[in-house]
This record gives sequence, C-alpha cells and structure tokens, in this order.
Amino acid sequence: MLRRLHKDQPDAFVFTPDNLAWAEAQIQKYPEGRQASAIIPLLWRAQEQERWLTRPAMEYVAAMLGMAYIRVLEVATFYFMFQLHPVGSVAHIQVCGTTSCMICGAEDLIGVCKEKIAKNAHDLSDDGKFSWEEVECLGACANAPMAQIGKDYYEDLTTARLGEIIDEMAAGGVPVPGPQSGRFAAEPKEGLTTLKDFRSDKNKYNASAQAAIDIGDTIKRIDGTEVPLLTPWIEGSVAVAKPRVAKVTPISAAAPKAAPGAKPAGLSEARGGQADDLKLIKGVGPKLEKLLHSLGFFHFDQIANWTAEEIAWVDENLAGFKGRVTRDDWIVQAKVLAT
Ligand code: FES
Repeated sequence: MLRRLHKDQPDAFVFTPDNLAWAEAQIQKYPEGRQASAIIPLLWRAQEQERWLTRPAMEYVAAMLGMAYIRVLEVATFYFMFQLHPVGSVAHIQVCGTTSCMICGAEDLIGVCKEKIAKNAHDLSDDGKFSWEEVECLGACANAPMAQIGKDYYEDLTTARLGEIIDEMAAGGVPVPGPQSGRFAAEPKEGLTTLKDFRSDKNKYNASAQAAIDIGDTIKRIDGTEVPLLTPWIEGSVAVAKPRVAKVTPISAAAPKAAPGAKPAGLSEARGGQADDLKLIKGVGPKLEKLLHSLGFFHFDQIANWTAEEIAWVDENLAGFKGRVTRDDWIVQAKVLAT
C-alpha cells in the first residue's frame, strides 16, 4: 500500500514537558553516536501525543536524534503502526485481515467498520470520533478474528461484539480488551486440556488485559494523568527523568551550534535583496533553503567558495540534514550554477 503524508499538516510540533523528559531518557539508553536507535519509541510517543504522526513531528524527532529527515520518513512510512493521516478522536480501529482472521470473519468485521464508521479506510466518521483500516497479521492468530484498538488487542470478535465495543467507546467507556469470548488467553476454545492447574485464579483477566484495566490506558491519550513514566536506568530513578539537555527546537527554527570546522562568512541578507534559488542545488528543498538563509547563505558563489573547514562547519550545522553538503557535492553544483 502506498503510504504518503497527509496533505494538511500542522505548522509545528513540540513534545509536552513530560514527553520530552521521557524521550530524552529513552535516548540515554544508547551509547554516544547511536541515538538514532531511539527513533521508534520517539516517533511512537509523538504519535501518542498527537494521535497521528505529522510531518513537523518527524522533523522534530529527526532534529532531536541528529538524523536526516529522510531516514525518519523511511521508518514512519514503513511501519503500519505509524498513522500518517488524522485518526478518530476516540479510537482508530485496525482490523486484521490476514489468513486466520479472514477465515474467521475479518471481512464481516470490516463491514461493521464501514457501516458504523466510514465507507473507506482512513476516513473519519461523521462525528470525527472513529477511523479504521485493515492491517496485516497482528500475531494473535489463535484468537482470530481480532482488531487492535489503541494499545490493546480485542480478540475472538464477532460483528455484534465489535459494534458494541465501538458504541461503548463512543460513550466514553473503555471496554475490557483481550478475548471477547470468555477465553482467558489463547487456550483451546473448549477449555484447557493440559496444564490444567496452570492458570492462576487470582486474576479475572489475563495479564495484558488486566494491565490495561488497571491503568485505564487503552484508548486514552497521554494527558499527564497517566502513571509516572519509568526511567530506572537513570541514576536509580523510578520517576520521570527531567530533561538533561536543552529543549529541542524544530528544524525550521534550529539555531546553529558549536561545531568543528570554521564558520564561513555569511550575509545578513541577500545582495540586492535578491537571493539565488538555492533549490536548484540537488538535495536542497524549501526547508533546507530556509535553513541556509538563516545561516547567512543566499548565493551560489558563497557556497562555491567554501573551504574544506567551512564545509565541515556547515555540514555539522544543518540539523536534520547533517552531511548533505558533502554527500550531494554542493560545491561542484554551486560552482556550475554560479557561472
Ligand atoms: S491472521 Fe489475524 S492476527 Fe494473525
């Protein structure tokens, strides 16, 4: 399936203070130079905050991790867990349509979504509360047919039960996730045949469903009332870690930082008020052109004359576009364009 960014994007994204602290704590898990390993948790957190993954959020995460924006885009467009379009304000329902679920009635579940939410996947319901899509196997085949809603799996679904779940959610409820047939987990439908004393009677629900019930965190947004974010790897703390570095600024407003090399001479404005079209340089888009302007570069001849030291400085100061000058041979291109 073609996964493209939504045509309407917000102007900016910033993590809430709690989410920023959490994200920075995640980054601490990885050794220096490997911060990019935190990309999936950070994108997921951004999605939890906004309910879908916006372009400014991806740029923000790219800047935070010192990654090229395209690398973040590659991850976000590859994994179906990332929603690239606005989703329902209450819930986005992901119905598994792969073999086991298809055989057990996934198409009928999709029919319920079409009837109760919207005719087409990814469209919002009339009240804006719900959206849906068909996804590939979610790994709960023994409990087919199933759907993921928010963080939880609703399994052993029937059309009637899915309809009820949607109604409960619309009314502000959080239906109990897990098997909807009375099964505890993925044991045989007729009951246990072996390990009959395995199941603890202490819990009514399996651990996954019980956890969702205990924290009430199934379709709820992160709004600051959730349980404390745990970052035990930071100085033995079990509470949310406070930011250890300065607040991250989105690429569009990124300030130059100390970097190796020598800063090339810049201009406060374009000569004669007329900047060259830097987008003619392969690899430079509107965002990068704006960033170059903010660094004082408006003309091809400025770029054409950068020394190796100056290239190193610029490469370090391109935030999410780090390394682009060298990779795309800007100097050669700029020399041609300047003449
Ligand atoms: S086929 Fe639906 S969860 Fe695997």
